Amino acid sequence: MSKEKKEEMVVTPWDVSGDMDYDRLIEQFGVQRMTPDIPERIAKQAGFKHLQLRRGIYLSHRDVDWWLDEYEKGKKVGLYTGRGPSGNVHLGHMLPWFFTKYLQDAFDADLYFQMTDDEKFVFPYNLTLEQTVANGYDNALDVIACGFDAEKTHIFSDTEDISHLYKIALNVAKRVTYSTAKAVFGFKDSDNIGMIWYPAMQAMTCFLQSEREGANIPCLIPAAIDQDPYWRMTRDIAEKLGYSKPAQIHAKFLPGLGQGGKMSASQPETAIFTKDPPEVAENKIMGAFTGGQPTVREQREKGGDPTICSIYAYYYFLFEEDDGRLVELENDCRSGALICGDCKARLAKVIGRFLVDFQEKREKAKDVLDDYFLK
Ligand code: TYM
Repeated sequence: MSKEKKEEMVVTPWDVSGDMDYDRLIEQFGVQRMTPDIPERIAKQAGFKHLQLRRGIYLSHRDVDWWLDEYEKGKKVGLYTGRGPSGNVHLGHMLPWFFTKYLQDAFDADLYFQMTDDEKFVFPYNLTLEQTVANGYDNALDVIACGFDAEKTHIFSDTEDISHLYKIALNVAKRVTYSTAKAVFGFKDSDNIGMIWYPAMQAMTCFLQSEREGANIPCLIPAAIDQDPYWRMTRDIAEKLGYSKPAQIHAKFLPGLGQGGKMSASQPETAIFTKDPPEVAENKIMGAFTGGQPTVREQREKGGDPTICSIYAYYYFLFEEDDGRLVELENDCRSGALICGDCKARLAKVIGRFLVDFQEKREKAKDVLDDYFLK
């Protein structure tokens, strides 16, 4: 049940751990708290309110209201997100991608999708460049399987497509001092200089569409809040390069199947990967941490606590589209009518079906991979 000692919260682009206190994070990062008008404005454009907007998954932002204003004035707007291809993709990574696909449809926006095979090579992941590049192409299948529009989606590899990117990254790098990079990212003297250069690459994509189209196109980045330090740095220099500051919309973290913490590839037993066979995912789910009581009898008497339950989180973040049924599930858990074994088995079925369908889409994506890469 509830943990007695709180673990200290750490949120950086490379490390997310401890007990999340999103209110404190909003203060620490100096970002804008989400207000009810923003989901309404997005939903108005999309024609429906995405599950992630209805459930408050997007907790904060920077200037998303400005990005919406620009669109409403009739201006073309763009989207940018990405992936550090360190290995296989899990459900947590796809949380913001599903939402990005919804935004692409709603705003008819081009999406620039960055595969940072350079980042996962220079940072201490113990991967060769061959591995990170290959992972990037493999992970692109997951991106495509999310349903993005081939005409409007431009996936690129930092290493293989560098000729499109390098000049913009140099313009960024020239305007960021080492002291700023240290303050924002906490670099140490012992870090290699590839790591110190890399933020220029992640920042550069904010201006890529504008550079390619020769116009200042408002850019919005949907991602979890761990990536925010990059945008803090980028926003400081954007206007010096003649571009508007990029806007962001920040997701909460999909938890792992263990007790606390986000879903993370470094803990594969508590993460569900898109390539997991359904039986493997089922085993992970059946072994998950829940908010239930130690015995069925106690569960029937006292009920469970969905607020700390990893299984409930999966229904909440992704797998129970119907708000009414979600409330029923919560009530049945609290009253003891529902026991954890049954709740897990039901989720395993839903996720199993999702995986079979997604894996088929991933296979089909192999035939159209080229259509999605930056030309
Ligand atoms: P990466 O590969 O660590 O993560 C990819 C995307 O997944 C989000 N994310 C999560 N979201 C919800 N719940 C989780 N448990 C979870 N784990 C990861 C991340 O916030 C991210 O949106 N440096 C980046 C690659 C990158 C990028 C970008 C990401 C380059 N440009 C622009 C976002 C936007 C990285 O290593 O992401």
